[in-house]
Amino acid sequence: KKKIGILTSGGDAPGMNAAIRSIVRTGIMEGLELFGIYDGYLGLCKNRIVKLNSDSVSNMINRGGTFLGSARFPEFNLVKNRLIAINNIKEKGIDYLVIIGGDGSYIGAKKLTESGIPCLTIPGTIDNDVVGTDYAIGYLTALETVVEAIDRLRDTSSSHQRISIVEVMGRSCGDLTLAASIAGGCEFIALPEIKYVKEDLLKHIKNRLSKGKKHAIIAITEHICNVENLARYIEKNTKRETRATILGHIQRGGKPIAYDRILASRMGSYAIDLITKGNVGKCIGIKNGKMVNYDISYALKNMKRPFKSDWFNLAKKLV
Ligand code: F6P
Repeated sequence: KKKIGILTSGGDAPGMNAAIRSIVRTGIMEGLELFGIYDGYLGLCKNRIVKLNSDSVSNMINRGGTFLGSARFPEFNLVKNRLIAINNIKEKGIDYLVIIGGDGSYIGAKKLTESGIPCLTIPGTIDNDVVGTDYAIGYLTALETVVEAIDRLRDTSSSHQRISIVEVMGRSCGDLTLAASIAGGCEFIALPEIKYVKEDLLKHIKNRLSKGKKHAIIAITEHICNVENLARYIEKNTKRETRATILGHIQRGGKPIAYDRILASRMGSYAIDLITKGNVGKCIGIKNGKMVNYDISYALKNMKRPFKSDWFNLAKKLV
């Protein structure tokens, strides 16, 4: 019986459990043996590996986070740690690994594949910043969460005629902020892909206020600026009360929406299909509704995610 190890890595994302469940259940149907590796690459080095059966993934389809746990473990870049991991994998007789995570996880998967441990990767991150896919598992659930938060901020900022700044996660990818801004009707958007000039923002907000706008919501991706300082700057220059809200890890939690559960289930089952065909060293994606796969090394080198400039232009028209 071929043995498959599953791990989740990097920031957790809603729907990861649904993906693990799908890999386990479809894998068992194909006569494979499944193993869960706890706490990502860290757990791989610490040998936290347990056998999974169909019951291990009961009541998982609707649960946020990842029951296998995840970890940030940049030390996996070190050869000595990878050698420990490879030794643990070989001792357990694991033939393939399925890794669910973001771009950092892909790099680990590529290195393991090159060292003779064939891996498959499934995109799971609220940032939606991974190559070779239209959607990563968890992104659309996080989008719902952010839009709901913006709706709530709209209620209170309009009641008080305030300006509200909302900081959205995404690391160096503006997908979550951009989509949430369109759906939430934000008056100004700052994204990592677009040069940010605070004076332009102020000018824009002043212009909106001069046209009779009573309140405004500014959506901004994390790491662009200090939103508390920005709030003080806007307040001082507009004489309008301004509040900043950092949504933070609230965005990562919660039960996955139906789409993410289905996406995760499809990707998990597709991973097993690829393994049974011996098609490994691949990253899985969804393109125009269809499951696709690319060589991990090729994808990492050649597939920088394009910025959705048409979405950005639309957002600007709608303010
Ligand atoms: O990659 C997902 C993410 O939530 C990013 O949006 C964010 O920058 C980062 O993880 C936060 O990481 P941590 O949970 O390790 O603080």
